[in-house]
Amino acid sequence: MQGVTVADHPLIRHKLTLLRRKETSTASFRRLVREVATLLCYEVTRDLPMEDVEIETPVAVMQSPVLSGKKLVFASILRAGTGLLDGMLDLVPSARVAHVGLYRDPDTLQAVEYYFKAPEGLAERLTIVVDPMLATGHSAIAAIDRLKEAGAAELRFVCLLAAPEGVSALRDHHPDVPILTAAIDERLDEHAYIVPGLGDAGDRLFGTK
Ligand code: URA
Repeated sequence: MQGVTVADHPLIRHKLTLLRRKETSTASFRRLVREVATLLCYEVTRDLPMEDVEIETPVAVMQSPVLSGKKLVFASILRAGTGLLDGMLDLVPSARVAHVGLYRDPDTLQAVEYYFKAPEGLAERLTIVVDPMLATGHSAIAAIDRLKEAGAAELRFVCLLAAPEGVSALRDHHPDVPILTAAIDERLDEHAYIVPGLGDAGDRLFGTK
């Protein structure tokens, strides 16, 4: 599908298998999410604009490329987004961070906002929204709605796993936002869990079940 990239590098696929296994411990799950996030970050930033600056090596003066423009923003959808955020920040430590607190209403499955904090100058920055699971797409859509309302103009969405339903919903609502995922699974079940998936990413990251 246009605007959707599956990052199927062998290291990502291997680590995703470990993440999916139900016997994977909380500590391993957290470490693996962080590692996969680093690999996804590498992929989602591959076309960032660059400019040459003059530097001096121990041997000679040269023109050498650095990232240009304002610092990136990573926007983490609480709480599971934190797991991906850590890995992204390992690779881009100077990025700014936005937090969007949303919970899923158990009856309607709609996203309800309880917290929002974003850095200044969103309009001039690339905003990379992170959430491990793109299930119904409600949280991703609500978070992106809110970030756009706060000024974000260029956004990308990164997740570990997506359901076809979530991909379609997000592409319909925000066709300008490319999606990068490590895999697209079969479907959602009646409780809006991704099948086969990996369970509840937040619970597995934080050991809350
Ligand atoms: N959120 C999760 O953590 N897991 C799913 O399968 C769906 C939504």
